Amino acid sequence: MAEEINAGLEGVVVGKTELSNVEGDIGRLTYRGEPIEALVKRDFPAVLNWLMTGDWLDETQCRALDRWLADESELTAIETRVLEQLPRDTHPMAVLQALAPIADLTPAQQPPAWLGEQWVPGMVLAARINAAVRIWHNLSQRGDIFAVPAGLGFLEKLLYGINGAAPDKAALQAINTTQILQLDHSFNAGTFAGRVIASTGASLSASVAGSLGALSGPLHGGADEAAVMMAREIGSPENADSWVRDALANKVKIMGMGHREYKRLDPRAAILKPMARQFCEGTEWQTLMETLVAVEDTCQDVFSAKGKEIYANLEFYKGAVYLALGIPERYFTSLFACSRVFGWISHFHEFNLDPRLIRPRALYVGR
Ligand code: COA
Repeated sequence: MAEEINAGLEGVVVGKTELSNVEGDIGRLTYRGEPIEALVKRDFPAVLNWLMTGDWLDETQCRALDRWLADESELTAIETRVLEQLPRDTHPMAVLQALAPIADLTPAQQPPAWLGEQWVPGMVLAARINAAVRIWHNLSQRGDIFAVPAGLGFLEKLLYGINGAAPDKAALQAINTTQILQLDHSFNAGTFAGRVIASTGASLSASVAGSLGALSGPLHGGADEAAVMMAREIGSPENADSWVRDALANKVKIMGMGHREYKRLDPRAAILKPMARQFCEGTEWQTLMETLVAVEDTCQDVFSAKGKEIYANLEFYKGAVYLALGIPERYFTSLFACSRVFGWISHFHEFNLDPRLIRPRALYVGR
């Protein structure tokens, strides 16, 4: 009997996790049992700590973790020199992939005393990645590194550094939400790639570097940048209907639409769409936002007429929020990585409690 091949591993269960649960049939996402709709009302450091450790921090602990992560969100002199040597048009995701395996994981500041030792190197690596995005943005867009004031929170420092100006309360709330929504998503391609690397006994940094590479692809995290590029190409909501019908007739994938697991609207997109509308209204991004809405409407018409369950995913409206926060599209996926890295670390930790080399078989069809 011919062996069955499952090239995309659809529906294949390769392990257990307590971290996040994607219920694609009902459009629900939870981190350790807590729905994302409730989690976005909390602070990013509290939610990442909940995801990683399963403990809720009190106010004082949350502020301490926030400040420590912000303080660690710097590069060493050597790491900064590495970035300075790179061609300025290097994509931020390639910069992160170059930096992750060589990043110094020794904390520069004392971590909070209650933080379990096992979390420290991973959190430092996550902070270095956040620093690298800010510093690479500065080097490639401004030509120099903007001196961020001391005493900021973790996400505040990232946004302040990118814009060269203090974010207001609404901007801080928005980045808190986008980063919480991107923390974890079960065994997606980036997380799974990192688990494969972890299964060989390779270092945490090697796993994160592999996950970063997978995340950069346009069928995964890179769809955020691609969706906004598509909306720019379409140009206006009036052009969307014919553009989308033409694209679909020619088997072109609409970026930010569709998902391997969700057969309903991605619950992250449901949160981001009204936010994107609110943030873009009356700004230079309003037309782009209206174009995305028009693309989604036509996709719904075409897909539902064919009986296909394809809806907007996380990437579709996230870019409009990011643009309104001053983040250029080239940096979207790296901002995604700034959050997802905490999820990866949680998965590699979970995996290493019961490791097993991941090594599937191929059907040999050669001579
Ligand atoms: N645009 C147009 N058609 C799409 C589509 C999209 N975004 N997503 C899925 N489809 C169609 C496929 O062409 C295919 O049609 P067919 O049966 O006529 O060949 C069918 O729906 C199944 O798609 P497939 O790509 O096999 O499903 P999948 O489970 O592999 O899809 C994605 C998951 C994410 C790869 C896919 O939806 C996609 O490429 N989306 C765009 C990229 C994206 O937004 N990625 C981010 C995901 S969070």
